[in-house]
Amino acid sequence: MNTNKQVIAMVMLLFMGVISLGAYTWFDVGRRASAEEEVLLVTAERGAHLFANNCRECHGNKGLGRAQHPSLIAPALNTPENTFGFREGNDGKFAERQAFIDDTITCGRNGTAMPPWAVEQGGALNFSHIDNLVGLVTTNAGGAWDLAHELAIELDEATIDGLRDTLRAAEESGDADTITTAAEALAAAEERFAAGLPIPVPSPSVTSGTCGQLQAEPTAPAAAGPADEDVPQISTDLFTPNADRGRELFFSNGCNVCHGDVGEGGIGPTIARTSLTFSQVAYQYRNPREAMPQFTTDQIPNADVYDIYAWLQTLE
Ligand code: HEC
Ligand code: HEC
Repeated sequence: MNTNKQVIAMVMLLFMGVISLGAYTWFDVGRRASAEEEVLLVTAERGAHLFANNCRECHGNKGLGRAQHPSLIAPALNTPENTFGFREGNDGKFAERQAFIDDTITCGRNGTAMPPWAVEQGGALNFSHIDNLVGLVTTNAGGAWDLAHELAIELDEATIDGLRDTLRAAEESGDADTITTAAEALAAAEERFAAGLPIPVPSPSVTSGTCGQLQAEPTAPAAAGPADEDVPQISTDLFTPNADRGRELFFSNGCNVCHGDVGEGGIGPTIARTSLTFSQVAYQYRNPREAMPQFTTDQIPNADVYDIYAWLQTLE
């Protein structure tokens, strides 16, 4: 009888032990998952701040790059391809994508505008900064791209406030030239802001000689495009060329980013006083070769192309 009770008590104790062990294990798994999740959230959030401060000029406020607007010279980073590996069951792909993104940010891409960012490569970011950016791009944890977008808007609103102050100060000074310059800078910034574009305009510098194992295609001199007789001929009879307007269109469409402020060349070839005919130039817009983005007739109608063409002919 006594032994019987003891056996029951022992079984009970054992049973409770198993339950609590199970409960503990269960609880621990939950806790570990949420700690990991917490790390991902913090990483991606920091990445969003770094992105808004360093990368959006070329990759766009939301990381959509060229997919958002042709004047953004870099590809989209905010894509399902980049977060694909992060999803359930794609572990191998996750590590692979992370390494690819990490390498690109660390080393840049030779022969493109993507600069190397690692301090060791002359860049401004340390190892953990790059880690945070990789987290943003490959996980988008907590909707970090939305945060990056919000931060971009805050930063640009502050820039516009600053430009308004500059204009006010200029108006007080009464100097006509200073007022015009300040008013133009403000108007240009407001226009980009309204279009959802980052206010700083991307710089066209081309990277070279980095650690990059990732070489872009070597930049060849402008390949000869089709001859005039091989492109559709566009009648300009109804167009009135307006070079001033052409200059504005050249900048508002970001042509200057690749071709230089006076068409002197950079990522793209020299196009000042291009010897191409108008129809050949229009053909290049619609069927671009190499790195040049496509501009459709909806984006830049033929009459606008003609204005830009007229301006290009006035350059040195
Ligand atoms: C001055 C413009 C510029 C800036 C600033 C810039 N990038 Fe880029 N980035 C590019 C260009 C151009 C490419 C495409 C390179 C190519 O053609 O291979 C690129 C490519 C990339 C790629 C590879 C994408 C892919 O799918 O191949 C990643 C990742 C990237 N950039 C991340 C960043 C991050 C993060 C920052 C900020 C720290 C940044 N970039 C800042 C211009 C820029
Ligand atoms: C992202 C960079 C980029 C942007 C933005 C860009 N281009 Fe280009 N463009 C190029 C490249 C690269 C080529 C050379 C293609 C080749 O090698 O055949 C080119 C070629 C051209 C040519 C033909 C030049 C020749 O001699 O064959 C014209 C004209 C031209 N671009 C005009 C423009 C205009 C106008 C805009 C704005 C509406 C513009 N481009 C925007 C990169 C760019």
